[in-house]
Amino acid sequence: MISHFLKSKTQVYLIHFFLGFVLIACEQQGESSSDQAVGGLYEIYSKYFPIGVSVSPKNLQNPKEANLIKNEFASLTAENVMKMAPIHPEQNRYNWAPADALVNFATSNDMKMRGHTLVWHNQHPSWFFIDTDSALVSKDTLYARMQQHILDVMTRYKGKIYAWDVVNEAVSDDTAYIYRQDSPFYKIAGKEYIEKAFRFAHEIDPNAQLFYNDYSAVNPNKAQRIYTMLKELLAKGVPIHGVGIQGHWSIFSPKREEIENAIALYSSLGLSIQVTELDISVYPPESGRRALKENESTEFTRELEQKQVAQYKMIFDVFRKHSEYITGVTFWNVSDRHSWLDNFPVRGRKNYPLLFNQNLDRKKAYKAIIDF
Ligand code: GLA
Repeated sequence: MISHFLKSKTQVYLIHFFLGFVLIACEQQGESSSDQAVGGLYEIYSKYFPIGVSVSPKNLQNPKEANLIKNEFASLTAENVMKMAPIHPEQNRYNWAPADALVNFATSNDMKMRGHTLVWHNQHPSWFFIDTDSALVSKDTLYARMQQHILDVMTRYKGKIYAWDVVNEAVSDDTAYIYRQDSPFYKIAGKEYIEKAFRFAHEIDPNAQLFYNDYSAVNPNKAQRIYTMLKELLAKGVPIHGVGIQGHWSIFSPKREEIENAIALYSSLGLSIQVTELDISVYPPESGRRALKENESTEFTRELEQKQVAQYKMIFDVFRKHSEYITGVTFWNVSDRHSWLDNFPVRGRKNYPLLFNQNLDRKKAYKAIIDF
């Protein structure tokens, strides 16, 4: 074909030489020519739901990662910098710059932005629950501080953040309770703090989609308790629009039925569903921290890879099937180069939970979820 338009054989040789060079250059960058032929993940899924990723400002400073993020994802979540401790370290001081950097990146690249998170018993600043005598503050003081925090953060990003995880992880791991008993919010105010947080948030930005977000949210027992809590809140007219299923899963669990049952349960309340923190660990779930044992492998073997491919394929089949209820799927971290699951919960153990490998190349799991 090309030779038809060329005047001499020398030109044909030159073109072949040039194309060969481009091919080698692409492969050295970790992209094969077939990778390039495929559009970004978010484009492939555009008729189902936006696909996003959690990032830190560091991800965006690395040009190769920044490119991957723009090319593959349609939405950003702050991995840490919008949490209460990093963004509001002292009562009268906010640390806006890191969060601003993410919001600016999202805005200038036409990406959506999710807010994470306003009210959480973890990663909170030490001043928040304590008065000058180091005693827990009263309920009124807690609500005044919560309201001020929500007001300042939501106002700054109003119109730029379309959805907020308003309350994170309020439901207990102990099946005897609905509410997490050891949360300082709960200790001071009981379950009412959840309702207050959603009402404050809705007053400040009535256009924002407000989510309750939790882990193990497809575990049958915990799903029932989350459902009971949400049902009660909705019956009181509390402005909640969706449930965030975090999705810190593994190649061993959850099963298809568990995901489908949870989607049916939450959507029966008229709520939309987002998978907010997706990663598929290649190790069995375990609670409690420990050190790596001697002779414990940390290699991403072919067998683990195949299991991960199968698990990713199954869950994205389920997500597509129920896409009428799912308004977003967000990966937690960009690539296996760095994930919060490195060293957690097992110190010294590397994990491989994402769709891009340590060179930022698309893994087989990536190819499996776009093959439908
Ligand atoms: C929870 C939180 C996230 C993050 C992860 C671990 O899921 O919601 O913000 O801290 O734990 O990275």
